[in-house]
Amino acid sequence: MREEILKLLQETDGFLSGQEISERFGVSRTSIWKAIRQLEEAGYEIEAVRNKGYRLSFEPDFLTAALVEKYLDTEWAGRPTQVFDEVDSTNSEVKRQAEDGAGHGLLVIGEQQSSGRGRRGRTWESPKGAGIFMSLLLKPDIAPGHASMLTLVMGLAVRDALEQMGVPDVKIKWPNDIICSGKKICGILTEMSAQMDYINYIVVGVGINVHNREFPEAVERVATSVLQQTGRRICRAELAAKCMEQFEKYYAVFLKTEDLSGLLDLYQSHLVNCDRKVLVSDLKQDYTGIARGINADGELLVETGDGLKYVSAGEVSVRGVYGYV
Ligand code: BTN
Repeated sequence: MREEILKLLQETDGFLSGQEISERFGVSRTSIWKAIRQLEEAGYEIEAVRNKGYRLSFEPDFLTAALVEKYLDTEWAGRPTQVFDEVDSTNSEVKRQAEDGAGHGLLVIGEQQSSGRGRRGRTWESPKGAGIFMSLLLKPDIAPGHASMLTLVMGLAVRDALEQMGVPDVKIKWPNDIICSGKKICGILTEMSAQMDYINYIVVGVGINVHNREFPEAVERVATSVLQQTGRRICRAELAAKCMEQFEKYYAVFLKTEDLSGLLDLYQSHLVNCDRKVLVSDLKQDYTGIARGINADGELLVETGDGLKYVSAGEVSVRGVYGYV
């Protein structure tokens, strides 16, 4: 009964009277009231107004492994998927499991992270239920020097997935940010355990801002969320599954050549920092130039007064000179 009433409320714009529900299912008003209470206990918010009836005002966005797997159409990416109520960092959790022998394709998602990590030693705010905080374990047989390109492959995948979920005008800011309306909606942190010539494993961590209504003052100028961009609360499990599907597809293309030659045109078409003046900061120096796209090794080509520079996607930051992008 509970599920049927929920479905009816979901399909109804506005209020539904107790009388209508009771006639529809042939049950008493008390049974309806009980079902409504159960739905509220499960996290739904239902407005009850005398002489009008009931209206579904808030639906929780459940994120469970079973739900992700229900949407998942992959051979290996996200298989298995584990969802933690709370975890220090999904990247750290995947590393621990990789050290214990977990296999290629494991996906760990956290409803919240107590020590979410960003690039360059930053923290990644990970409030409960607001986003997707997930990490994928990879064990590719490729040269360690090629691993950083997987950040770009994941960038392409997340971009597509966001677009498929209805987010308009999603772009990539090389190497690891996904951008909407000039603001960051997703960041990617790729970490690796390797020997000189052999990769033990790679962890690709993805943080997507999904249900955030607002951001702390320090980042509100540069951060955005799916809710802010679309005005809708999308299903995070579905978005996570779409990211895995797209990643599996692009990863197969990447593996053929161990570089981005098969994905280059696609990547360039989504690249936001192209033909723009950028500030490149690496550990040694800062310099400005005009970004001219990437090459098949995933390097950003930057035209400077000293000639063309090939910037590789390591611990480097690239910012627009006139703003974040
Ligand atoms: C960045 O833009 O600085 C990268 C942010 C990456 C955040 C994600 S959230 C899931 C995964 N676990 C972490 O601790 N970090 C990454």
